[in-house]
Amino acid sequence: MSKTMPSMSRCSPEKPNIVRYTYLSVWGVSIALSVGQVVWAEDLQPKQSSSSYQMVTGDDLEDGRNRWDALYRRRNYVYGREPAAFLKENIHLIPAGRALDVASGEGRNAVFLAKKGFVVDAIDISEEALKKARRLAKENHVTIKTIAADLNQYPLKTDYYEAIVVINFLDRKMIPLLKKALKRGGHIIFESYTIEQTQNPGGQALLRGDLLSHEELKNLFKEYKVLLYRESNDQKSAVASLIARKP
Ligand SMILES: C[S@@+](CC[C@H](N)C(=O)[O-])C[C@H]1O[C@@H](n2cnc3c(N)ncnc32)[C@H](O)[C@@H]1O
Repeated sequence: MSKTMPSMSRCSPEKPNIVRYTYLSVWGVSIALSVGQVVWAEDLQPKQSSSSYQMVTGDDLEDGRNRWDALYRRRNYVYGREPAAFLKENIHLIPAGRALDVASGEGRNAVFLAKKGFVVDAIDISEEALKKARRLAKENHVTIKTIAADLNQYPLKTDYYEAIVVINFLDRKMIPLLKKALKRGGHIIFESYTIEQTQNPGGQALLRGDLLSHEELKNLFKEYKVLLYRESNDQKSAVASLIARKP
């Protein structure tokens, strides 16, 4: 975790900032090569959940919060208004109840859950994202509770949620805290990029520590009852997806 921005969490363990900046620059250049013009990370317009931008899920650059705010301020719905396909396709497996959307961004998943009858807390470090989440909720005639907070510092209630959703965000040290916040019998719905993403267009510059290794996600929840686990790669997005129940 970056020492200069201890409050900002995301994908990977210890990496000096110079490595991060180098990484992002290399990544920007690789995107530039692929599209034939110079495009910096913050100028990319993610088009859908499989876009290259999302490979840098939750990055903890020193000014990460400002970058997320700037991205969300400048763009329309960066990740779209539709929920992640994995969540939408499998919502029938999850009984409605109190849900936490972790690093919720602009609320596409939180609003979907609310429409399905969940009582939703949506946490994100970016107030700009949460403004859009509230707008999306209003447009859909549902209510969500938005919490602008750094997940590393926000005290999640113990045994509180019936469902916890994590989409395109990976901070391994958060896992024990999420487990504590989940009620017995509650469900975790988790999807994030795997190391195979480095083989997809735009993914070559990604750091392996920021990505899930083979079977890692399942092992992170090994004491849980797995309802669904898969690793997939459609040549755009290589992800691991899990739904599991807390014993
Ligand atoms: C790739 S986006 C995913 C957004 C959302 N889950 C979705 O699928 O649309 C990652 C999100 O993590 C948030 N984030 C990064 N670090 C965070 C932290 N320490 N605490 C809370 N949110 C954080 C960013 O603001 C951003 O909205």
